[in-house]
Parts: sequence; structure tokens; C-alpha cells
Amino acid sequence: MKVPLLDLSKQNGPLEAELTAAFTRVLKSTCYIMGPELEKFESDAAKVCGASHGLGVSSGTDALLLALMALGIGPGDEVLSPAFTFFATAGSIARTGATPVWVDSDPHTFNIDVADAAAKISTKTKAVIPVHLFGQSCDMDALMALAAKHNLFVIEDCAQSMGAKWKGRPVGGIGHFGTTSFFPSKNLGGMGDSGLVTTQDAKLAEKARILRVHGMQPKYYHKYVGANFRMDPLQAALLAVKLPHLAGYNAGRAANAKRYTELLSALPGVALNKAGAPADAKLLLPVDFTGEGIWNQFTLRVTGGRRDALKAYLTERNIGCDIYYPLTLDRQECFLGVGRGADKLPVAHTLSSEVLSIPVFPELEPAQLETVVAAIAEWLKQA
Ligand SMILES: Cc1ncc(COP(=O)(O)O)c(C=O)c1O
Repeated sequence: MKVPLLDLSKQNGPLEAELTAAFTRVLKSTCYIMGPELEKFESDAAKVCGASHGLGVSSGTDALLLALMALGIGPGDEVLSPAFTFFATAGSIARTGATPVWVDSDPHTFNIDVADAAAKISTKTKAVIPVHLFGQSCDMDALMALAAKHNLFVIEDCAQSMGAKWKGRPVGGIGHFGTTSFFPSKNLGGMGDSGLVTTQDAKLAEKARILRVHGMQPKYYHKYVGANFRMDPLQAALLAVKLPHLAGYNAGRAANAKRYTELLSALPGVALNKAGAPADAKLLLPVDFTGEGIWNQFTLRVTGGRRDALKAYLTERNIGCDIYYPLTLDRQECFLGVGRGADKLPVAHTLSSEVLSIPVFPELEPAQLETVVAAIAEWLKQA
């Protein structure tokens, strides 16, 4: 049985009539830039992030860039970024002219190591970007305390975590800014690129709003050098159809993660990725330590240099899987010699050689999930 890593047709297909109606409505409105469709979606999406202001933008990447620009981050400033994350987190820092400072990861949550972040702060450090990776919140108590102590801005990168919570509070509404992506594979996936910037701060929201339209206020008078960071109302209307289903999608992912954990943890050589896991475990299973994560990915750690072999084994059997992320950001060609902290990233470097994500999308069928488990069980016998 073929098991894709993601099957968007199963999610978008049942909504076809509503999506088509939304498309037709926008088409007929002739309002193709900004306007009420966008404003309604922004306000509803901001609520999910527990934030009082939401701005629809062109992508999750531009959301990060816009947040950094609104905070006045630029040349001479340093920004703390996990080294083990998607490129956009640090790419956006570099695009402002600021310098990324590479921070190690926690081996169990895959999220930023707060102690390492603290150790790498300098007088130039202006901000930190915690990424709630794979759908699980970072330790926001520790991060907000660290930020308060060192006068840092906090931009939560929620691209993989819309709907996740930290101690009951939605991520994206805790730091100075939150940023989200609606890339099709995200928990709330659009039909193209777009993103969201969230904040509780009216002044920051206003500055970001101006920067989103070329720093323009009023029309044709430019206060700042901004850019075109707008989200299309067409995309907002399509996403508005899917937004009410987000909690259901997240629950579907959680149910799949639970079932994987039950079935895989019963296999010899498999343990939970927690402190005290047996040193000879071949597979470590991800744990939702907050109990409020949303499982954008179900990411295994495959130890002992066996990761690529498992990936090849599953791929041969038509089981979708992928490596998020095979090379940490400090080791990317464009960042070689850029930034500080690359000499001390032992966990991030290990994770990039061990991680493998398997299908966890909400519509994954029980038989498909069991096929994945059976293939892993077979592989373990010979690993
Ligand atoms: C952690 C993280 N940050 C930022 C982004 C960028 O989002 P987008 O693809 O919408 O630009 C992504 C998307 O993959 C991501 O996973």
C-alpha cells in the first residue's frame, strides 16, 4: 500500500464546493488587494493565536522579516536563532543585515536550548526567535524570563505550530511578535503562499501594517522603507473556509501520533525520546512534552548512523518520509563563517543526522498507519 507523506486532496477535496464559492465571491467582488475578506480572516486567525492583532502577509518567511523590520533590527544587531530549523528563521535575520547567533537544540523537544541561548547573548543581541518546531511549544516561561533579563525582543516562529499552546496560552500571542505560515503542508495549509504576523502590541502592529505596504502612510508618502508583504484576499477567503477545521485537523494528527506511539513503542529497540532512554535504542519516538502540541511532523530519531537506511527502506516500499532538516543552518553554504556560536552545536548537529519524519497528516487512514508501522517493524529486525 502506498502511503504518502501528505495527501492534500483528502483535506481540500471535501471542501471543494465551499472553496469554489469563496473563489467565485472574491472574483465577483473585484477586490483583489486588501479589503474585508482579508480583515475578517486576520481577526479570526489572530484569535486562534491568542493575539489582539493579526496581519495577513505574503508568506511565513515574510512574516519573520516584517516582524524583525518592525522591531528595528538591522546591521550591527545580533539575533539568536536555533541552528536546527527551516532556513527562513535565520534567512530573515540575514536579510535585515543583522547577524544570526546559532543556538543549540534540546535533544528531546527539538526546540531551542534556552541555557545555550543565555550563554551566547552579547551586548549586541537584540532578539531571539524561538521556533515551535514540529508543532510543540518552546519553554516560553524560560524564554520570556531570559528576554526580560537581557532586554530582548521575542519573535515566536509558529510556522509549524498554529493551534499549539504553552500552559494553556496559544503560541503566537506570547512573545512581542508571532509569525505563522500557511504553506500548503502546514497545519492550516493554503492554496499557495501566505502567512500571518500576530502581536498584542498596538504600536508594533501599526508599524508592521505600514511596513507591509512599502512603509507608506498616507498614500504615496513613505515613512519607512518597507516592501509589498500583503496577503491576497483570495488566499484569505480560501483559508477562512479551512480555519474552522483547524482544531479538527490538529486532533486528527494527535490521534495518529498517539497510535504510532502505542504501536511503535511496543517494538524491540524502540524507546521514547526522553531523558533516560536506553543507550542502545535504535529508534526514539517523539514525545509531546507540553501535552498541547499539534504534531506538524512526527519525527523519529534513528540512532547509530541508520537513518538513511531506514529512509531508503521506507521509500522503496512507497512510504513517504522526509528529513527535516539534513543540514543545520550554520553549515549551509550561504552561512559558512556567518554569525557566532557554530562551534558549539552538538545536539543540533546530531539531530540533523538522525531525524526522519513519517506521515502523520490528519486524513492518514488506520490501514496506512499500520503499513508504516509494519514496515518499520520489519526494518528493525535487520537493523
Ligand atoms: C519553522 C519555519 N519558519 C518559517 C517558515 C517559512 O514559511 P513560508 O514557507 O510560508 O515562507 C517555515 C516553512 O516551511 C518553517 O517551517
